[in-house]
Amino acid sequence: MRRFFLLTFLACLLAFAQGKKYQPKQEKLPGDPVPQPIAYSHKTHVALGLQCLNCHTMPGEGLEATYPPESFCMGCHQSVKVDSPEIQKLAAYAREKKRIPWVRIYQVPDMVWFNHTLHVKEARIECSLCHGDVAQRDVLFKEKSTGMMACMDCHALRQAPNGCDTCHPSQ
Ligand code: HEC
Ligand code: HEC
Ligand code: HEC
Ligand code: HEC
Ligand code: HEC
Repeated sequence: MRRFFLLTFLACLLAFAQGKKYQPKQEKLPGDPVPQPIAYSHKTHVALGLQCLNCHTMPGEGLEATYPPESFCMGCHQSVKVDSPEIQKLAAYAREKKRIPWVRIYQVPDMVWFNHTLHVKEARIECSLCHGDVAQRDVLFKEKSTGMMACMDCHALRQAPNGCDTCHPSQ
């Protein structure tokens, strides 16, 4: 029985590998600056001494980096720059307990399994290798590829696993 499942699994994998030959998606690099609902600047805030992981906490299994809660921002902006229209927008979201709809820049499709904690805390890869020099940016834009070749090239270089089921778990 187990053998049967294994064989069907391998057959599917083979069909997947042959039938749907991988075509890299068009990706504009560097991308255009992405306007956000609030004019937040990484450069300003990292210069204050805030660390990447203070805001992108990667909770639980750390699949996602996550965005900081509005209450975290308000810890300072309760009293800092309260007259600024941008801070008034922030304060309104916090008051209404709504999440700011930040626009995603880096995203892989659902068929791909990616885990931040594994790369950041176990493999100790710098954020900048995958996201560019965020600490120097007022407005973010896509600087690094999220394509399959970008993943596989680094995996090959660092002897990380590169079988199809590493990133495309078959369930
Ligand atoms: C540790 C305190 C601190 C935290 C936390 C913080 N900020 Fe700030 N922020 C500041 C300071 C200080 C400035 C002013 C910097 C300057 O003008 O030099 C600022 C400036 C800003 C500005 C520019 C305001 C203007 O009109 O000039 C925006 C927008 C802003 N922050 C949004 C946010 C958001 C969104 C968060 C949460 C993701 C956040 N901040 C978290 C301290 C903080
Ligand atoms: C004060 C909180 C704060 C700090 C500190 C911070 N970030 Fe962010 N980060 C944000 C917010 C808010 C956004 C959404 C707005 C934007 O894209 O600029 C964001 C967005 C991002 C994105 C884009 C994610 C996407 O695909 O939409 C990346 C990448 C990122 N941050 C990396 C970093 C890195 C690397 C550092 C450290 C050098 C860092 N951040 C420090 C708050 C923070
Ligand atoms: C090995 C490459 C890699 C490294 C290292 C990396 N990221 Fe990412 N990051 C990605 C990919 C790929 C995505 C898209 C993930 C998805 O769609 O699930 C992403 C998405 C994000 C997002 C979007 C929102 C979310 O919750 O996923 C943020 C924010 C982010 N990264 C911040 C960071 C920060 C901060 C660091 C360093 C502490 C970091 N990343 C390190 C590759 C990386
Ligand atoms: C800059 C180098 C680098 C990039 C880019 C990178 N990875 Fe990795 N990845 C690693 C390393 C190193 C490991 C091994 C981590 C460990 O086990 O300590 C790893 C491990 C993994 C694992 C776990 C493998 C296992 O079974 O143990 C998955 C899944 C993964 N990466 C997916 C991705 C995906 C998807 C992308 C692209 C969106 C990506 N990686 C981009 C370096 C990278
Ligand atoms: C290290 C991670 C990684 C490995 C290993 C990997 N892939 Fe991928 N694959 C990705 C990422 C990331 C994407 C999404 C790329 C994009 O958004 O354009 C992707 C996309 C694809 C797509 C395109 C899907 C679509 O609808 O556009 C196919 C087909 C595919 N992979 C097949 C394979 C096969 C076959 C193997 C084994 C030879 C494999 N992949 C190994 C990360 C990986």
